[in-house]
Parts: sequence; C-alpha cells; structure tokens
Amino acid sequence: MFDSGFGGLTVARAVMDLMPHEELIYLGDTARYPYGPRKLSEVAGFAHQIAEELITKRGAKVLIVACNTAAAAALESLRADFDVPVLGVIEPGVSSLLKATNTGHVGVIGTVGTIGSGAYQRAVAATAARTHADHHVELTALSCPGFVEFVERGVFDTEQVRVLAERLLAPAVESKIDSLLLGCTHYPYLARTISDVVGHEVVLVSSADETAFALQEVLVELGLAADSNQGSPTFITTGDVNSFEELGRTLLGPELTSAEQITWPGDDIGYPGI
Ligand code: DGL
Repeated sequence: MFDSGFGGLTVARAVMDLMPHEELIYLGDTARYPYGPRKLSEVAGFAHQIAEELITKRGAKVLIVACNTAAAAALESLRADFDVPVLGVIEPGVSSLLKATNTGHVGVIGTVGTIGSGAYQRAVAATAARTHADHHVELTALSCPGFVEFVERGVFDTEQVRVLAERLLAPAVESKIDSLLLGCTHYPYLARTISDVVGHEVVLVSSADETAFALQEVLVELGLAADSNQGSPTFITTGDVNSFEELGRTLLGPELTSAEQITWPGDDIGYPGI
C-alpha cells in the first residue's frame, strides 16, 4: 500500500483491523508529497516506481493505491503493467457515498489533481447508472489545496485550518449536500473541522473501510487470504524517518514502532508517464 505521505494510514488502519493476519507493507512517499498540485503524468511515474518497489522487489501479492491522486493518475496503467490485483480508493468511496445519501445531493472533496482529473465525476455517474440510484444524483466536486500540507505538518484542528475550510467548503454548504466523500486519504484527520464547517447533519464518508472490504473480497475470491499470522507490518518512508515514526504513530497507533527509509536514484522515475 502506498500514499504520498501519511494519508494512506487511514486505509492501513482499516486493513489492519479487518485483516490482522495479513502482512502490510506501507510506503509513504513523504519526500515528494504533496502529489495533488503535480501533473498527473508525474504522479503516474511515482506510482509505477513505487509499485516496482512493493511488487517486484518486496513481493506484494496485492497493491492498494491508498492515494486518490495516484489512483486518478495511474490505476489503469498500474493494472496493465503489473500482474497482481491493484485496488484504488475511488470506486469504494463512491459506492459508500451513494449508499449514504438520502437526497442525492452529494459532495466530494479532494486534491487539485484528483478533482481536475474528473475521476470522481466519472465514477459517480457510472456507479449511479449501474446501481440504478433511486434519485437523481447531483455532485458538488471541490478541490481543497492546503489541507494535505496541514496534515503532513501534524496540524489538525486550528483556527487556520477552520478559516481555510470555511472558504473552500462554502459551495458544498450552498449546495445543501447531505453526504460528503473525503476523496483524499489525508482528510479524515481533519474530519472534526470539516464536519463543523459543513454541518453536523452532513454524513462524512471515507473510503478506508470500504477499501478494506474490497481487499478482503479480492483476497478471498482469488484464494490469496493468509490463514495464519504473517508477521508485523513494515513502514517505509522516502523522507525523514524520525518524523515519520513520530507523527505516523500518533495517526495510526502503536503498531508503527519503527520505519525504514528508501531513497530514489537521482530523479530518474523510470516511467514515461501518460
Ligand atoms: N492522500 C493523497 C490523496 O488521497 C494526498 C495527495 C497529496 O499528496 O496531495 O490524494
């Protein structure tokens, strides 16, 4: 599983709780976060380089792209290039969102890259059509530049976060949404502020649990589920190990006892992009 930094730990928590026997390898590309403002082709290059590390070098049997921006940029090309199942967070999140809404007025927030890619707009339309949603679905999609940077600095519930959230989320409040999908894996850490701003009656949906269920389904279907404990999780960062361990433990919990560091050779990302 990988993310640009700490955000994917929301998905890691759900996976570890649901499938404690599986051996999780988590890579946070903290040296290159945030992914959101980068070109999608550049993020796709990072995603393929990380997949190479996790699948080819470390033998992962399934890859979870625990980052919406990377999933928007590279899910299809990763599926084409690697011969293990590759799961993203966008479809599981959308399916939770459409289950949660009563009025059909829904929102999604994500990075500039994710929202600009149109991946959520397409996934909501496709899922609503496939599941024959009982009401017309009206989606308000908003990018929230700055949220990821607060989380990566360990800042969650300050006046600064609140002021930014009030400005960025105003259109969601105006659209009278009844459910809001946190379409960036970092955002659950800002849930309290987001909920205060959009109104406590709005259901906040995160893709973490639904992604863990999707993983379990794939493992069982393909006969890949571990039948005994495979050992403790491994955490890898491309940035500073001490700060990754410290903030990571606060966010994930005591299982993050230590992290290892890897660095990328030069700036050769080894993938031409899309
Ligand atoms: N957690 C990543 C996501 O879900 C954040 C991307 C970033 O680094 O900007 O999109």
